[in-house]
This record gives sequence, C-alpha cells and structure tokens, in this order.
Amino acid sequence: MTASLPLTPDAIAQAAAELAHKTPQEVLRWALDTYGDRVSLASSFGAEDVVLIDMLAQICPDARVFTLDTGRLPQETYEVIGAVQRKYPQLRLAIHVPDRAQVEPMVQEKGINLFYDSVENRKQCCYVRKVEPLNRALSGLAAWVTGLRRDQTTNRQTMAVVEWEQDRQMVKINPLIDWTYPQIWEYIRQNYVPYNALHERNYPSIGCAPCTRAIAEGEDLRAGRWWWEQSNQECGLHVRT
Ligand code: ADX
Ligand code: SF4
Repeated sequence: MTASLPLTPDAIAQAAAELAHKTPQEVLRWALDTYGDRVSLASSFGAEDVVLIDMLAQICPDARVFTLDTGRLPQETYEVIGAVQRKYPQLRLAIHVPDRAQVEPMVQEKGINLFYDSVENRKQCCYVRKVEPLNRALSGLAAWVTGLRRDQTTNRQTMAVVEWEQDRQMVKINPLIDWTYPQIWEYIRQNYVPYNALHERNYPSIGCAPCTRAIAEGEDLRAGRWWWEQSNQECGLHVRT
C-alpha cells in the first residue's frame, strides 16, 4: 500500500495543481482517500482547526486528529477540547505532551517563564513544548493536515494547498489555505461548531497562555502572539527549510 501512495515531490506538485480550486471538503476527502490512516489533522483548536474538525467528522467520523498540549495552554483551550470530544465522540484524538526529561532541566535552569528573557529561550521552550512533540506526533504518518491560511503571515503567503515537506519527507495538506478569517467564522456560526471562548475576547490567534494576548482594534490578527518580540511570526511548527 505504501508504495502506491503519492509521496514524491512530483506527485505532490501534480496533486496541488489538481486540488488548487477545490473546496476544503474536497481536499479533505482526497487526503482521506489517498492516505487513509496515515493522515492526521494537527489541531490547536483555534477557529480554523475546529472548522476542519467539523468538516472531517462529516466525511469520516473516526478520523485521526492530534493536538500538542504544551502544558501552558489557556483554560479556554482545554474547555473547547472537551466540547469537541463530546460533540464528535468517534474522532480519534491523540494528545501529545512534552518530554518530561526535557522540560524539567529547562525550567530548573532557566526559570518557569524563560521565554520572556530572550528569543533564544523562547525558541528553546517552543522546541521542547511544541516541535519535539510534533515530531513524535508525525512519526509513522505519510501526511498531516493543518489549518494554515495564506493571509496569516508572510511565510504562509507562498504555501500551497498540498505541499511536499522536504525536511520531513512527508506531505502537508492545508485545505483552508485560501480562506479568509470571515469565511472561517461564517462556517462556525452556520454549523454550530464549538469554538474557543477567547475568540470572543479579541484573541483571533491562540497559542500558549503566557505567549498570547488580546489584540487591539486595527492590530494584525497575530499581533497577540509573542508580542514582546520584534518578529513574532512563527514558533517553529511551520518553518520551511
Ligand atoms: S503557530 O505555529 O503560530 O503556533 P498557529 O497557531 O498559527 O501556529 O496554527 C497553525 C496550524 O498549526 C494550526 O491550524 C494547526 O494545524 C497547527 N497547530 C498549531 N498549534 C498546534 C497545537 N498545539 N497542536 C496541534 N497543531 C497545532
Ligand atoms: Fe513555550 Fe510560549 Fe512557545 Fe508555548 S508559545 S511553547 S509557552 S515559548
């Protein structure tokens, strides 16, 4: 089965061209038909990700989803995880936590809130609490689905609906890449999808509690992420090499 999966840069470029103008649901159906149990949605339970969960559950009620529980998430995120588990009980949700053997020495040596002290510390914390667990979550998969949208960051503007990740040697599928933030909310409201209560308190983009704040009127949608840094765009989950 593995040998026939589209798992080369050329096959993925062709799939990207064919899927470029399809709906997110059509892209998800292609992902499930193509990769079966070897594809999983990466969900932070932000607005984009709950939309994808609702779409996925309608196509395949026991689809695979994983989340990275950094240990520093806001209570509201744990609440929406619980609400999603109740609404879609068949979903196979895997919760990945950081490696204790890496967290303990880091916080002992550098302090529990080390991320405010330097960019280097912040990147170390993101690596230990997010990137290393992501690497574990992705092992054994052929493809992963994300809620990335093109207008979120500069880095994301050139992303395609389906991409070959050279460093990981796997496929990344971004069904909402062309959607706007208002489209996301129209879907949530029309379909009664559970969402993170922080969105109603001016948190359009939600990560860990100590590294996310509300935005002011007119600010960029991601201005509340790592706001104390000059360049607060990415944490390492979606950095391309
Ligand atoms: S981040 O890199 O800045 O933290 P962002 O919050 O924009 O990412 O989310 C983009 C996509 O990355 C989400 O739609 C989701 O697919 C994935 N993602 C982000 N955080 C997590 C998480 N904690 N667990 C699983 N997937 C995540
Ligand atoms: Fe650590 Fe903040 Fe990164 Fe979360 S967002 S992993 S708390 S630095």
